[in-house]
Amino acid sequence: MPTYRTLTSNFPWALDRLEWPVTSEVGPGLAGVIATGTRVSWLDPSSGALAYRGIPIERIAGEYEFEEAAHLLITGRRPAEDRDAFNAFRDRLRRSRDLPPDAVALVRSLHREVHPTRMLRAGVSALGCHEMTAEDELSGARHWRELRIIAQVAALVGEIARHRNNRPKHMFETGHSLAHCTLRALRDDEPDTRDVRTLDLLWVLYADHGLDAPTFTSMVVASCLADPYYNIVAGLSALRGPLLGGAGERVLAQVLPLRTPEQARLRVAEILASGGRLAGFGHRLYHIPDPRVVVLRKELAAQARRRNRAELFDIARAVEDEALRQLAPKGIHVNINFYAALLFHLLGADGPLIPCLYAVGRMAGLLARVHEALENPRLFRPLDRYVGHRERSLPREGAR
Ligand code: ACO
Repeated sequence: MPTYRTLTSNFPWALDRLEWPVTSEVGPGLAGVIATGTRVSWLDPSSGALAYRGIPIERIAGEYEFEEAAHLLITGRRPAEDRDAFNAFRDRLRRSRDLPPDAVALVRSLHREVHPTRMLRAGVSALGCHEMTAEDELSGARHWRELRIIAQVAALVGEIARHRNNRPKHMFETGHSLAHCTLRALRDDEPDTRDVRTLDLLWVLYADHGLDAPTFTSMVVASCLADPYYNIVAGLSALRGPLLGGAGERVLAQVLPLRTPEQARLRVAEILASGGRLAGFGHRLYHIPDPRVVVLRKELAAQARRRNRAELFDIARAVEDEALRQLAPKGIHVNINFYAALLFHLLGADGPLIPCLYAVGRMAGLLARVHEALENPRLFRPLDRYVGHRERSLPREGAR
């Protein structure tokens, strides 16, 4: 459980409508701090409740396609409330997948061994250069830019997958969903509707999750009134790293070499006995099971069975059971990345591509929150506590 300490500062130069000295409760990693208000989603880690715009995630998962969830998160309206508005939103999204040739050329100029998250970051930066001029402001066209960014990030991820597999550029198509087009780019064949549903489900579940590192980072950059491409590049940077988006890559490295449930249990015991960490377990907020895991576990069972890979599900369950036997008493449970990584694997993605696929889903919530914050912008400016020397004298010349 997080430990809290009192932060007190009595430096005279900090003003700005605060009463000094300032006292606030701050946990390591900003635990326990409420940084903003939101209408986008509600998360209660003590009960495991998660709702997008007031609709429980259990009702949305498997029911909504990603495009419907994006509409709900960004506009606040359920697609069924105004079918014409939703259709216009979806058409715009699907027509926005085209990428500037220079951005594609930039990604393709990178060595195929470069980590795909680096390619994505470079690609989105390039999009920013081609889609916006130095004079562009945040006003007016923001809404369509948000849609364009979601579609373009999905298209870039498809393009990155093709480049890494040494395949030619993907043809631009407008009629299909983002999930359909992304799977097609990934595997170079016509995707089965069941797989499209699985990718939609993954993106819906990854779409928003409170102020986690990528969303918070984007909001900090947005609070400077930077254009949305800066926000996205910043958010994508926070998605990388083994503690967050990079965990999926490690899940595959830990699970795929295992051949039997028995071997899985032994390996988990070995990792934990040596003080190691299991990827896909633990969460900064949840000390109970993550509500999204239930849905994904069921989906993995179904997808593994369909592919005659039932052993993969049995091994995953054995990893989870052994890990929980040892870690649940500490409040550590399986997190979304564990089953999500195995599903991404079955859909044809390799480990390094997983954070990029995660990123596509997250674009919806992240942009919805940035949009919301810009309705009433305030520059983020937390305080720090100075713990260095109080006063030091300058050494006299020659005395060093
Ligand atoms: N495996 C084994 N032990 C763990 C794990 C794990 N995955 N996670 C936490 N612990 C242990 C720590 O060793 C520590 O034990 P100790 O008290 O005996 O020293 C205790 O649990 C608390 O660990 P913290 O790092 O303080 O927990 P925190 O809440 O800060 O960290 C985090 C959360 C970073 C997610 C952590 O659980 C972790 O590293 N998990 C593995 C990576 C991962 O799966 N990340 C994805 C997170 S979910 C998401 O991104 C959507």
